[in-house]
Amino acid sequence: MNYLRAAAAAALYSASTVLAQGQSSSQAGNGVSGGILCGAGNLCPESSPCCSQYGQCGVGAYCLGGCDIRYSNSLDSCVPAPLCQTQDYKLTSLDGITANTKYLGDATKANWVSQGTPLLTPDNSAVILTLAEDGASASGTLLSSTHYVWYGKISATMKTGRGAGVVSAFVLFSDVQDEIDFEFVGADLNNAQSNFYWQGVTDYDNEINLTVSEGGDTFSAWHTYEVDWTPTSLTWYVDGNASRVLNKADTFNTTDNKYHYPQTPARIQLSLWPAGTTKSGQGTIDWAGGLIDWSSQDVQTNGYFYSLYNDVNVECYSAPSDANGTGTVSYRYGNVDGLEGNVELTNDPTVLGSFLADGTDMDKGASSSTSSSKGASATPTPTNLATVPGLSGAGGSDGTGVGSGSDSGSGSSSSVSGSGTSSASGTAATGIGGFDQGDQKGSGASKGEEVMRSSMFAALVAFIGMLMM
Ligand SMILES: *[C@@H]1O[C@H](CO)[C@@H](O)[C@H](O)[C@H]1NC(C)=O
Ligand SMILES: *[C@@H]1O[C@H](CO)[C@@H](O)[C@H](O)[C@H]1NC(C)=O
Ligand SMILES: *[C@@H]1O[C@H](CO)[C@@H](O)[C@H](O)[C@H]1NC(C)=O
Ligand SMILES: *[C@@H]1O[C@H](CO)[C@@H](O)[C@H](O)[C@H]1NC(C)=O
Repeated sequence: MNYLRAAAAAALYSASTVLAQGQSSSQAGNGVSGGILCGAGNLCPESSPCCSQYGQCGVGAYCLGGCDIRYSNSLDSCVPAPLCQTQDYKLTSLDGITANTKYLGDATKANWVSQGTPLLTPDNSAVILTLAEDGASASGTLLSSTHYVWYGKISATMKTGRGAGVVSAFVLFSDVQDEIDFEFVGADLNNAQSNFYWQGVTDYDNEINLTVSEGGDTFSAWHTYEVDWTPTSLTWYVDGNASRVLNKADTFNTTDNKYHYPQTPARIQLSLWPAGTTKSGQGTIDWAGGLIDWSSQDVQTNGYFYSLYNDVNVECYSAPSDANGTGTVSYRYGNVDGLEGNVELTNDPTVLGSFLADGTDMDKGASSSTSSSKGASATPTPTNLATVPGLSGAGGSDGTGVGSGSDSGSGSSSSVSGSGTSSASGTAATGIGGFDQGDQKGSGASKGEEVMRSSMFAALVAFIGMLMM
């Protein structure tokens, strides 16, 4: 299952609802006139030049991670992507995590960009991704690496979520929708599903289940999942066991004479998302093992479903020998075909001056007083342009969006800034009144406490179900 494809479909669904209804209440409240769609044969206009991975046009963060050069206004609309960095990311604090409403492309200041509500276990041993009921919808959590990887060895040490309809993921996802997946459906805790995509082309035969047998299931035990991605082959490992190998040579498609092999710089994405909701297609619901049961033990105990990530390790490989350029700062595309041979290594900057900027005018909107520290912690300014995918201009018509301002209670017409998001991080202990992995029954929480946890959580949630649906 291509999880972002499902998400994109949901985004498009809500966007077309918006178009059909004229304007959603949340967008009206924000003064946001988003919802311009992009895709094959449908490029973004110059005023809103960047096509997000959800198929919608905007400026600012739309031009950063996920900006698809194939459907953006011009090749230069998208901002160059931060180069791979060999690093062991310990996920034992929230320090390296910045909300997507604050990030302008400076990968030296953040390791991960978040949407949703990442928390920390009380003992600081892992980052918790949460999935909570949010009105009629559901809010998942997504962390995307700020640095891209263009071939390398990437591992995640994690515990998945559990329960029908709850999907955990550790994937590599490129801006032209090449994808390498480990996905885990919460209804099957004994398998990791391995998968890959080239440029988002759906192929239902690429998924292979990898058995996770040693030491306990995917929910209750720590396991390390790894992909070794080279220009010629891809190997999926479970706890050091090479469980699956894909050779590029075997992916050649004789219809278009291209290798349908992941071959472009990709972000690492860690997520917990609701596949089992009535907003998903039936195929997605079935794949995920059915609809989410919001009265399940994990929700009763903590107020949310959760997955845990303790460590992500990245070893970058050298660029392919035929790579164009010798820069050490960023990747960019020299051609909209989006193939390996089109990727260039450059020294071009990656940081926008404001949420009004795009790749063709990167300093746009930067005030001179802040330009020296640009990218540090900017916040979207109220605008009639869509500035943050999943936040503004990208639906939210079902009332699940940050943009609705319901979390901040400010009711201000400038709530496009999604101020709630910045307060959404914290330790589970201080944020929600405790975190319990729920292995033992009867943790002592009274019904009243549980209800309070849930409502406090609801108040903290500042995210868009749309993204994760
Ligand atoms: C993988 O396992 C799931 C059940 O968890 C099953 O629905 C799916 O068909 C399996 N995929 C393959 C390719 O066997
Ligand atoms: C390692 O992977 C292979 C290939 O999928 C599998 O047959 C084998 O059972 C795995 N070994 C362990 C110890 O998991
Ligand atoms: C080749 O690619 C086309 C789309 O470009 C796809 O429809 C077709 O199924 C692919 N063929 C194979 C054998 O994968
Ligand atoms: C390499 O990059 C330069 C600068 O962007 C470009 O002019 C040239 O056409 C590229 N060469 C190839 C083979 O893509």
